[in-house]
Amino acid sequence: MRVAILISGRGSNMVALLEAARDPAYPAEIVLVLSNRPDAAGLARAAEAGIPTRIIDHTAFPDRASFDAALDAELRAASVELVCLAGFMRILTPEFVAGWAGRMINIHPSLLPLFKGTHTHRQALEAGVRLHGCTVHFVVPELDAGPIVAQAAIPVRQDDDPDSLADRVIVQERRLYPAVLALVAGGRARLEGERVVITEQAP
Ligand code: GRF
Repeated sequence: MRVAILISGRGSNMVALLEAARDPAYPAEIVLVLSNRPDAAGLARAAEAGIPTRIIDHTAFPDRASFDAALDAELRAASVELVCLAGFMRILTPEFVAGWAGRMINIHPSLLPLFKGTHTHRQALEAGVRLHGCTVHFVVPELDAGPIVAQAAIPVRQDDDPDSLADRVIVQERRLYPAVLALVAGGRARLEGERVVITEQAP
């Protein structure tokens, strides 16, 4: 299955997906890495791996709809079948999301539905939870609210701060996302209405 990864920054989840996809048996082929920010560090890492990259700078567009239309056109021109958001820091319009319904997934650094949005590690510490983690979900128009495919959890320690939590959660993200992409691209996890149907559990 032809997959695009959308990034805005460092791209460490993207690297994990690229590495997994190097295995010929992996069901996803990464055909495009696209960033809305020209300075995203992940772009160089994708180029080093020989993956085509594109920049669609959102600041060059008058509104979300025109940016999303350009994004959509680029994805369709590359015959993309599945989109992975990996640290992509743009809210997408309902029209764009509808065009990729059931074919777009995101990774979020919390155990959703807890701690949507940004600063999730600080939110977790403030809430005093003893378990934290990350979630891969199908994308719906509402931010960080889509049907959940899989999660990974870590214990919160007494001496954790947002940085130490982020360091342990990102390790889980880099493990979880490639496993979930394999399930979705392989047709073993799919969206049916508002439910995720999984025929094989993520490891
Ligand atoms: C990750 O924590 C991801 O869950 C969140 O943004 C961060 C991106 O990190 N959405 P990276 O760019 O993949 O290194």
